[in-house]
Amino acid sequence: MLDLNKIKEEAKEALDKITNNEEAQEIFRRYLGKNGEVARVFALLKEVAMEERQTLGQEMNELKKEIEVLLAEKKELFKKELKRLETMGDEIDLTRPGIKPLMGHLHPLTLVQRQVAEIFQSMGFEIAQGPEMETEWYNFDALNMPKDHPVREMQDTFWLKGNQKMLMRTQTSAVQVRYMEKHTPPLRIIAPGRIFRNEATDATHECQFYQVEGLMVDQNISASNFKAVIEEFLERFFQTDVEIRLRPSFFPFTEPSFEIDAKRKGGKWLELMGAGMVNQNVFAAAKYPRDKYQGFAFGVGLDRLAMLKYNINEIRLFYQNDLRFLRQF
Ligand code: FA5
Repeated sequence: MLDLNKIKEEAKEALDKITNNEEAQEIFRRYLGKNGEVARVFALLKEVAMEERQTLGQEMNELKKEIEVLLAEKKELFKKELKRLETMGDEIDLTRPGIKPLMGHLHPLTLVQRQVAEIFQSMGFEIAQGPEMETEWYNFDALNMPKDHPVREMQDTFWLKGNQKMLMRTQTSAVQVRYMEKHTPPLRIIAPGRIFRNEATDATHECQFYQVEGLMVDQNISASNFKAVIEEFLERFFQTDVEIRLRPSFFPFTEPSFEIDAKRKGGKWLELMGAGMVNQNVFAAAKYPRDKYQGFAFGVGLDRLAMLKYNINEIRLFYQNDLRFLRQF
């Protein structure tokens, strides 16, 4: 009942474990408070025989003092630690070089795709999307490219095994009829995305690359609308002296058709996009009445746009994940 040593050991052990002032306060309450351990043993003193009372009383006082001292030491320690933490900021050496975190950034093709989207969105074009795995219908037939017609030779296709009607889309033009089926003119869209062709690669050709399709349909659209929109786009996109030329071409889904080439000063002409006025057969495939609407469409090579903009002479660099190349953007 009066094992003072035991109380002392317990108090020491508890004090050893505390880490802050709140815990110190708790220890105070438990041992030195009004209903604490020390008060409890003092209360027992009157039951002790007279002759022992004096020594025992002294021992109790010592116990009380000892706990008080230990507690005070702890509190002092916490005070110092708090001060150290508060002034820690003053000790930081701001002249030391920092540790640069490794930050990722956008791929040049993503950057270019966003720039293209921004320019067309500012001209009122919406962004549409279609699947990379496409049906023969949307990729070819709906675009006036019937089966067994030599025009299909233009794009050597990856057909999907097991399902002869499915393929990896060879052109973003596949989005045209998909979109028109669900919307009535007037409409203005661009459809950026990846396409696939079974082609041998070289410095300007890949077997998977990116295009941005454009389509504007209304009741009074002419080739001059196309020229105005494309000129505005190219001027805002390149902002450098890239030379442009427009030449007649052929696509089954446009009539008439054009091609646009571009080159940098001293460089070679690079075919940038195919375009033209939408063929009425395409409108018919989308179940629009014949001869009610006109529109223009274009399909621009995103990789080629990026090559011209950043003066890159090798398309395959975009897909090799060489950080020495990618870090330049
Ligand atoms: C087409 O794909 C047509 N769908 C474009 C079109 C759309 C015409 C709407 C009319 C109306 P073409 O196969 O020429 O056309 O490709 C268009 C552009 O994609 C090219 O001008 C070129 O910039 C890019 N391109 C074509 N083949 C490759 C290739 N192998 N690697 C990289 N870019 C390519």
